[in-house]
Amino acid sequence: MNVSIIGTGYVGLVTGACLADIGNHVFCLDVDPRKIAILKDGGIPIYEPGLEGVVQSNVEAGRLDFSTDIQASVAHGDIQFIAVGTPPDEDGSADLQYVLAAARNIGRYMESFKVVVDKSTVPVGTADKVTAVIQEELDKRGRGDLGFSVVSNPEFLKEGAAVDDFMRPDRIVIGVSGDDNGRRALASMRELYAPFNRNHERTRVMDVRSAEFTKYAANAMLATRISFMNELANLADRVGADIEAVRQGIGSDPRIGYSFLYAGTGYGGSCFPKDIQALTRIARENGQTLRVLESVEAVNDEQKTVLTDKVFARFGKDLSQHCFALWGLAFKPNTDDMREAPSRVVISALLRAGARIVAHDPIAVEETRRVLALDFADAPQLLDRISYAKSPMAAVEGADALIIVTEWKAYRSPNLERLKTTMKSPVVFDGRNLYEPAIMTSAGVIYHGIGRNSLHAAG
Ligand code: NAD
Ligand code: UDX
Repeated sequence: MNVSIIGTGYVGLVTGACLADIGNHVFCLDVDPRKIAILKDGGIPIYEPGLEGVVQSNVEAGRLDFSTDIQASVAHGDIQFIAVGTPPDEDGSADLQYVLAAARNIGRYMESFKVVVDKSTVPVGTADKVTAVIQEELDKRGRGDLGFSVVSNPEFLKEGAAVDDFMRPDRIVIGVSGDDNGRRALASMRELYAPFNRNHERTRVMDVRSAEFTKYAANAMLATRISFMNELANLADRVGADIEAVRQGIGSDPRIGYSFLYAGTGYGGSCFPKDIQALTRIARENGQTLRVLESVEAVNDEQKTVLTDKVFARFGKDLSQHCFALWGLAFKPNTDDMREAPSRVVISALLRAGARIVAHDPIAVEETRRVLALDFADAPQLLDRISYAKSPMAAVEGADALIIVTEWKAYRSPNLERLKTTMKSPVVFDGRNLYEPAIMTSAGVIYHGIGRNSLHAAG
């Protein structure tokens, strides 16, 4: 099939490359000429394991093309995916300007029936707005007769595992209208996704509003699990329990399950924080307060300071005589994405308290430099106090303590003897509960995890 993708970011590029890989002819459009130039040059503008190979092989096979040419993009695809950003507005609601600009372009240039797919995460009712904008443009051109249908097909991929998630989805949610154009659009969507349904049917067809809602509900449910576990972990610290043992104890109940129950330094990334805010706003606009979800957000904001609270409790509020090693900067492993990364909150608190930091991350250093320049626009001189090490062990040299924010594999089995002799004092603040407290303590390391009974166990 001929498919166009409007917006070649994380979701657009993965969607485009994977749909090309199963035999479609895909045209990826972006308004950012830098991104398109990198892609045309054979590179990819983001770090995402496995993606570069899929992109290159499909470009070579002539099934995947990149361009900034809007008119050509609208002409190419019978199916037009909108995969542009929906960042938070000042009040936390999803900013739809990019989605509606994409819709306007479709209406401006289309010459035949189009299936328009909202892939971006958008508030309930957005498909109606997209429909109105396209119709308005068609009417302006006197082409109100051209048919189209707007479909909601939210994306559930996780960064760091995006290609695999797209190729082996848990579910494919398709929201369509019940009219003739909706039925025609559903037939196209079923054909497009047929290769993903070979072994068993993964498609869930529903009305458009329910599909739009499903995406927010999924992220809200996952974020709620995390914040709830983080609160329990903080209580575990107070009462002398180990949240890891508790996690295993409750996870064995199939009604609860093991995944997404890891306590840590709070969730970050490009989705949870903004989607939780957006759903909260949707509720308020509709006269309802989502009390649980508002608490989920508040708990997460506080959780991002739990590590530095522990640091301040041990070293005092003035850190000007202290140097800290920081392992992990990206909001999670296997990505260079720094959007809403907890490391930014940790770095800000430490540098503003006068500390020096030597940080390590396998991938995200360049992106960290970029975002910290923005975070420290009010005090750029503080950035002289953070430097970046080439290896985890180089970062801990002479450090008063090691702080772990992201659970990269490379941090899982450090040589504890070397750690102890390299650091000034063997103190570890582990924001991802990578280690067993008993092993650390018996190795002579002063260990503070999240909810690991560390207030009782650590010296
Ligand atoms: P992104 O910022 O990485 O990419 C968006 C791209 O759209 C940018 O390259 C931008 O230049 C381009 N763009 C903006 N306006 C355009 C226009 N009018 N025409 C063409 N291109 C345009 O964003 P993303 O992370 O890919 O997210 C896209 C959407 O998918 C968001 O709604 C997000 O919530 C949702 N989503 C993201 C993820 C994720 O893990 N990143 C997962 C699921 C859903
Ligand atoms: C998330 C959703 O999982 C995905 O379905 C959606 O499409 C986009 O948003 P992503 O943001 O890429 O994906 O990463 P995810 O693995 O969900 O992690 C999000 C954040 O939660 C990370 O900061 C991670 O460290 C944190 N997290 C995750 C926890 O703190 N504990 C957990 O148990 C799981």
